[in-house]
Amino acid sequence: MATIGKLQIDNPVCLAPMAGFSTVPYRVICRTFGSSFAPTELCSARSIRYRGTGPSYQYLRIDPAREGLCAIQLFGFDPVDFEYAIGAILDDELLSQTDMIDINMGCPVPKVVKTGAGSALMKDPETAGKIVRAAVKSACGKPVTVKTRIGFDKGARGDPEFIKVLADSGCDMICVHGRSAAAMYSGQADIDAVAVMGKAAKEAGVTFFANGDICDGASAQLMKEKTFADGLMVGRAAQGNPWVFEKIRSEMEGKVFTEPSLEERKKMLIEHLKEEVELAPSEDAAVRAMRSVFVFYVKGMPGAAGLKDRLCRALTVAEVEDILWN
Ligand SMILES: Cc1cc2nc3c(=O)[nH]c(=O)nc-3n(C[C@H](O)[C@H](O)[C@H](O)COP(=O)(O)O)c2cc1C
Repeated sequence: MATIGKLQIDNPVCLAPMAGFSTVPYRVICRTFGSSFAPTELCSARSIRYRGTGPSYQYLRIDPAREGLCAIQLFGFDPVDFEYAIGAILDDELLSQTDMIDINMGCPVPKVVKTGAGSALMKDPETAGKIVRAAVKSACGKPVTVKTRIGFDKGARGDPEFIKVLADSGCDMICVHGRSAAAMYSGQADIDAVAVMGKAAKEAGVTFFANGDICDGASAQLMKEKTFADGLMVGRAAQGNPWVFEKIRSEMEGKVFTEPSLEERKKMLIEHLKEEVELAPSEDAAVRAMRSVFVFYVKGMPGAAGLKDRLCRALTVAEVEDILWN
């Protein structure tokens, strides 16, 4: 059990936000396997400020009835953008039902970093603090959370001062990914550096989530025990693999987990795809958008390379079904 502001989270293992993967259908699927909540992928506060929520709706969309707890993730560099963006979210009938606002302070992508957003905020704690305060002021009592990293530069070993700034600014939960921004996704997550930040969060009285390379019960247990984590986020191990949440929970309880069969994986891919079609502007748009996801579902299947190739040329659900089953 963990708390984020006034929210109670029973099984605090959740799907990490992943651009291109954390869609409503996938968040709902992961929830059925035990992900307690899942933030949306990052969405630009500046874009919402100047263009409204409309152009970003596909990224901001939530489904409170099926998702349970919802969190919308924003990125940006200007505290005022967050005030406007959160105001626009709270003015929207559906989006205003989000339970939390999450702020991205970890994105290492150059396009984001060069604007001073994402992980660049770790180098500018003053602005980071102002952004959290602006978000808290605008969020009408909804918890404000931050997802960040162990530091910006190569060799970073955790930044407790940054945690203190976020905590002092009113942040309700901080999630730390155990890599520096410079490392992007390479190398192993540095659990000791996550622990440095977890300890600082505990001292500041802020709920702490840990993230990085969690893929089974053992890695989850290790991360939880070493980092003072109240909760865990799982990213890449959940790509095309919603069963990972069940696996983590079972193995942490000392139970044996049976991996899904080939048939179950194919069925899940189709179920996922059909749900995406429901929300997409057209069937082929949904099938195209799922191409990067198919790759993960078929990983390890017999003839995976050929399957991937054919799936990446499909344009309809029927074609995908045909490729998978024939
Ligand atoms: C394809 C992809 C997209 C991502 N998009 C986001 C994002 O939108 N917001 C965010 O905070 N982190 C994003 N991340 C980072 C993940 O949330 C997570 O911190 C990272 O993958 C490390 O966790 P893992 O080792 O469990 O994958 C992304 C990661 C990947 C692989």
